[in-house]
Amino acid sequence: MTHPKPKINKQIPGFPVADIALIRKTLVHWYNTHHRDLPWRKSCDPYRIWVSEVMLQQTQVKTAVPYFLAFVDRFPTLESLARAELEKVLKSWEGLGYYARARNLHKAARQVVQQMGGRIPDRFSDFKALPGVGDYIASAVMSMAFNQVQAVVDANVKRVLARLLCLDIPVNQSSAHTRFKAIADTLVDRTDPGGFNQALMELGALVCTPAVPDCGSCPLALHCLALAGRRVSVFPLRLKAKKIPCHRISTGIVIKEGSVLVTRRKLDGLLGGLWEFPGGKRKDKESAEDTCIREIKEETGLDVKIVSFLTHIRHAYTHFKIEMDVFYCDYISGNVVLDGPIDHQWIAPENIHRLAFPTANRKFIPLIDPTVIYGNLL
Ligand code: ADE
Repeated sequence: MTHPKPKINKQIPGFPVADIALIRKTLVHWYNTHHRDLPWRKSCDPYRIWVSEVMLQQTQVKTAVPYFLAFVDRFPTLESLARAELEKVLKSWEGLGYYARARNLHKAARQVVQQMGGRIPDRFSDFKALPGVGDYIASAVMSMAFNQVQAVVDANVKRVLARLLCLDIPVNQSSAHTRFKAIADTLVDRTDPGGFNQALMELGALVCTPAVPDCGSCPLALHCLALAGRRVSVFPLRLKAKKIPCHRISTGIVIKEGSVLVTRRKLDGLLGGLWEFPGGKRKDKESAEDTCIREIKEETGLDVKIVSFLTHIRHAYTHFKIEMDVFYCDYISGNVVLDGPIDHQWIAPENIHRLAFPTANRKFIPLIDPTVIYGNLL
């Protein structure tokens, strides 16, 4: 007797269609019995899901949880977020990084209130047209809040799919998202797409982890092509990353009559809208002290002199690293004339915590000694 050939899915060459139905069922069942109790999973409110997914796009779950709780406590509805000043929103985001996420979320909330009667659109293309909403956020919110058949593709999902199907798509290649999305759209469950998406992400976070996957307890082990071929550690494929550059920075805590100078970064670009201590990049053969004096003069118009060294900070961004020398400086002369920053203030040390700073600044702020700032005023 001859057996009929199994039907093969076109999107996923070599993978039987019958397996897809089983994978959907198995995965959703596993999720229902194993998922973590995370705060954004307690409601279908599209606003909460939106906020959580914006945070989770570049932040790990355990870091995002307290920020999420504080954020929805402070801005419980889309209207309250739209009404808030941007500075307050940035303060709630302080330390999470990628501040464009917060600026866009705020801008989008205002747009929904002003142009859409305060209702988050439930059509994929309308929602995706909002500031900061890309394919990932749109798919996550549309599937989880409105039950639409859209697959979510994040790093966890890419890893799970790459192993499950032995996909030879390097995950850091520019076309990777589109290719993974096409495959994930084929797999996503038609009746519970939100649950399926959460399940795939959860499997990547809890079982199919990057370094030591727990294949022994994986609900998809029987279907996993990489496991069958003993090649789990080969996937996901990755193109060799370029070495990231390191910038040497000098920063000054400029002291004048018991206050220190802080400047505000322009709203667009890296760390846009945040406050910082003035400073900038060191030139070749320039001393860290000379950089500090020169950068403060260029950015603020002030003449300062170095008083003492405070600390050395290292910090890594996505595409570069910084090594920063921080100095106490005394104000000598000049009026503030800004070139670069959009605002400045002289602030008492005890009020510094009210403003939102980049993490590289927050690393040295606790080390600032108020007695140095108050100096001979004491
Ligand atoms: N990562 C991205 N979205 C997530 C979610 N909804 N739950 C857990 N981890 C996630």
